[in-house]
Amino acid sequence: MKISNAYVFMYALVLVLWLSEAERHVRVANDLGQGLNLTIHCRSHNDDLGLKELPYGFYFEWAFNSNIWGSTVFYCDMGWQQGSGHYDVFVARRDNSRCHYRCWWVARQDGLYALDEQHNVYNFWFPWNKTAPGVLL
Ligand SMILES: *[C@@H]1O[C@H](CO)[C@@H](O)[C@H](O)[C@H]1NC(C)=O
Ligand SMILES: *[C@@H]1O[C@H](CO)[C@@H](O)[C@H](O)[C@H]1NC(C)=O
Repeated sequence: MKISNAYVFMYALVLVLWLSEAERHVRVANDLGQGLNLTIHCRSHNDDLGLKELPYGFYFEWAFNSNIWGSTVFYCDMGWQQGSGHYDVFVARRDNSRCHYRCWWVARQDGLYALDEQHNVYNFWFPWNKTAPGVLL
């Protein structure tokens, strides 16, 4: 093996290890406005993170290691006085290359925004699906 190939191989190995080991943080913050709570219930195939009621300005966060099969999925039912929905907040196939550390969301009155880690801005992703709180659980 030529030296350069050995280097490429080492880099590839390190990259694969780094990608599979990286710990990601999913965060959902309530930016709805003064006095408005966000009700949120997040789950994966294996975990139920429980029902939370987040006051304005608070967030809910958890960390996990995306599994090497790329099948990690977390989803949340969320709602407030005027909207609700069921949202995938982390899907390995969609997000492995999108968020490496901060898989952050904010809930605003018009819907959910996701952090663009590279540019440090939040982009609009999902509107509230229903115009009523609906049955969350
Ligand atoms: C909002 O949540 C807080 C704490 O979780 C709770 O004490 C309060 O009663 C809630 N307010 C409304 C309007 O539901
Ligand atoms: C919105 O509601 C429709 C119809 O019930 C459903 O098919 C869709 O998955 C929902 N989307 C979200 C983001 O909740």
